[in-house]
Amino acid sequence: MTYLNPPPLAFHANRLENRVILVTGASSGIGAAAARLFAAEGAKVVAAARRAERITALADELKVEGRRAEAVVCDVTDEGSVAEAVRFAVQTYGRLDGAFNNAGAGGGHAPMHKADTGMFDHIMAVNLRGVFLCMKHEIAAMLETGGGAIVNTSSIGGLVGGAENGIYAASKWGLAGLTKCAALDYARLNIRVNAIAPGPTRSEMFDRWMPTEEARAGLAARTPMNYVAHPDDMARAALFLLSDESRWTTGTVFPCEGGISAG
Ligand SMILES: NC(=O)c1ccc[n+]([C@@H]2O[C@H](COP(=O)([O-])OP(=O)(O)OC[C@H]3O[C@@H](n4cnc5c(N)ncnc54)[C@H](O)[C@@H]3O)[C@@H](O)[C@H]2O)c1
Repeated sequence: MTYLNPPPLAFHANRLENRVILVTGASSGIGAAAARLFAAEGAKVVAAARRAERITALADELKVEGRRAEAVVCDVTDEGSVAEAVRFAVQTYGRLDGAFNNAGAGGGHAPMHKADTGMFDHIMAVNLRGVFLCMKHEIAAMLETGGGAIVNTSSIGGLVGGAENGIYAASKWGLAGLTKCAALDYARLNIRVNAIAPGPTRSEMFDRWMPTEEARAGLAARTPMNYVAHPDDMARAALFLLSDESRWTTGTVFPCEGGISAG
């Protein structure tokens, strides 16, 4: 389609109104914040995570608030589980319009000669292969109904190198490659694919990485803006990239890291 003169976008309060959006890793941190925000923006949210109790509690909480949300158990390292989560979304709400592929594993911090090979396999299985599996099944569903938008969660570690961070960084740099190539594969089929690259954000993963208040304060002090982000900050960036407000944006890795990579 040649599309030389797109119409202006209407002002829209419910930026994801009636969109069916799958969120992985939705039981905590950035994923849980995103599920809440997307539901508040009118989406029909499919909250996917491994922890059944937590994900069900989140969906129930949203329903009590009058939002639309369903929970599905999903381990992104298991292709059958990913396919089932996508099938569940389509069966429950009739289609899939968007996905926030946010589940991720941290850790493995070590200089290269001391890095654990099992940890390499695990982090790649979640952060890289997991995102590949999600995109593969989500895109197949989106093609059935005319398109959609995908946002993957990368990291500041996927924008710049860092000492003792080779495994995690490689998984997130790889995720950028998947994101950019998929964006080109589907640019003419009305599927946009982008990523966000969070900097330090207070979550369960962050607290495992920085277990003491002293360590957290030290890290905050090393960031240009002198604080660690709230998961909502990341959810807002993902919202923009999932909504029509970013209709002319695809293949980007959007930094949300308080200016760390600017230096
Ligand atoms: N918190 C930070 O400082 C930070 C910085 C950069 C990037 N990130 C990225 O943000 C994303 C969300 O992390 P968070 O900070 O909210 O931490 P978190 O620990 O709260 O969330 C990670 C989620 O991923 C889920 N998960 C892990 N393995 C999974 C699997 N095999 N299948 C399904 N779900 C799985 C966890 O259960 C959890 O719900 C991750 O991709 C992480 O790499 C976080």
